[in-house]
Amino acid sequence: MIGSAIVVAAPPAVALDNGLAQTPAMGFNNWNSTHCRAEFSEQMVRGIADLFVSRGLKDAGYNYVNIDDCWAEPTRDGSGNLVPNRTRFPNGIKAVADYVHGKGLKFGLYTSAGTKTCDTQGFPGGIGHERQDANLFASWGVDYLKYDNCGDHLGQSAQQRYTAMRDALVATGRPILFSICEWGSNSPWDWAQPVGNSWRTTDDIQDNYGSMLNIFKSNVQRSTDSQRGAWNDPDMLEVGNGGMTDTEYRSHFTLWSMMNAPLLIGSDLRTASAATYAILTNRDVIALDQDSLGVQGTEIGNANGLHVLTKPLDNGDVAVALFNENGSAATISTTVAAAGIGNATSYRLTDLWSKAVTTTSGTITASVPAHGTVVYRVARTGTFSTPPAGTTQASALRPSLAGNAWGPVETDRSNGEKAGGDGRTLTIGGTTYARGIGVHARSEVRYYLGGRCTSFQAWVGLDDEVGDNGTVTMEVWGSGRQLANSGVVRGADGAKRVTADVTGQQYVNLAVLPTADGARYDHADWADATFTCA
Ligand code: GLA
Repeated sequence: MIGSAIVVAAPPAVALDNGLAQTPAMGFNNWNSTHCRAEFSEQMVRGIADLFVSRGLKDAGYNYVNIDDCWAEPTRDGSGNLVPNRTRFPNGIKAVADYVHGKGLKFGLYTSAGTKTCDTQGFPGGIGHERQDANLFASWGVDYLKYDNCGDHLGQSAQQRYTAMRDALVATGRPILFSICEWGSNSPWDWAQPVGNSWRTTDDIQDNYGSMLNIFKSNVQRSTDSQRGAWNDPDMLEVGNGGMTDTEYRSHFTLWSMMNAPLLIGSDLRTASAATYAILTNRDVIALDQDSLGVQGTEIGNANGLHVLTKPLDNGDVAVALFNENGSAATISTTVAAAGIGNATSYRLTDLWSKAVTTTSGTITASVPAHGTVVYRVARTGTFSTPPAGTTQASALRPSLAGNAWGPVETDRSNGEKAGGDGRTLTIGGTTYARGIGVHARSEVRYYLGGRCTSFQAWVGLDDEVGDNGTVTMEVWGSGRQLANSGVVRGADGAKRVTADVTGQQYVNLAVLPTADGARYDHADWADATFTCA
């Protein structure tokens, strides 16, 4: 058997290492409500900052007050500096940023990775001026930059243009969240994790149900590409802008939260209805978006427009969203096992919109109105089973949480495709294993040990079913603490040995994280994975 010893080491820095966006950004951006109309002004921005505090949005987690295109004059000044529009921002941008900071909030700005911004008036873009503009933004107190994709690209690739601004922002020494906005045109999910804190995955959202639905269907396919500090961005919220019903806006807000989207309010809060505020401040739904495990929800079913999404959460619960895309009410059902939660005799379902609480031994079901979404937080209750004394294969235990980005976690098989049981014999570097589990990054499999076990051991690697493809790290976590780390594992590598002292742990998480190198096919095996218990 091919193998090598494992040292516990810090995980590699794969996401942009600026410490920001450890959960998706939350805040406001004026674009969806104002575009370049005259009401986009200093007065509006101050009004929004005031409401963030007075109406509880700040308390609910919203902290960035961002402005979009059309904040600048059409030409740079004699020194080449951008100039704030004299009518909209007569006191300059720094005065606005200071006001926002005075409320304990953060301030964001916009420009473009080309010669012009995107509005038809075409304000000056950042290409060739990255250092000068980044320094100016930092001197104004900017905390967030949205970098669009319009104007001439001067022959540079998207990766070059966005990396140049990333480097300029880092060089300022000010922490500035970097939001890439190239609409998914250059497959940013393949390269943007070390470049930006988020990247748009689609064209612009419009304030109608069809647009929201199309963006959801595209972005939900990208669940394997996001991670802490580096998120898919299906564009800003339209909640409250009037083009959808409140039922549709609740679906929009729920689906964006299930997909770990940045939650940027796009309606004018100065005139927003009570219903809009109620949607935007649903803390139970926000908690899904902001969950510290940072795993984007995946779709486990979408038969005839009846969508089932599941999302593992840091405390061992899972969120399950049942979204009815169609124009008439329907019953949507799944099970706790399909949703990736197990090892208990009963489960508590909390409906995060109605707040109704029910229990189930396995079935999760709801009558869902046309275009509506029912979302549950599913928690284990009742009796948990713990592993027997001696050494037990992980694949013989029922995990308490089984999050996997490509179909279900497989038992004694490789991950295969998205159906259950469609993998092959676990094989790493030519060696086969009869027992173990087959997963796909990003994956989190949790076992309830109840403090009864002492050690975990496994052979780990990428399964030969994907050839030499894939690059991941495989990590063993106890309560809030990393217990072992494989280091970077590549498709061509032989199996590595991972061992972890799990003494006293209530549970152990086996995590597989993608790395940001654009490699795909992250089919990982925890082969001959065993727990030794008292
Ligand atoms: C592009 C972006 C939008 C918005 C406008 C501004 O279309 O995708 O989000 O910033 O430009 O002009």
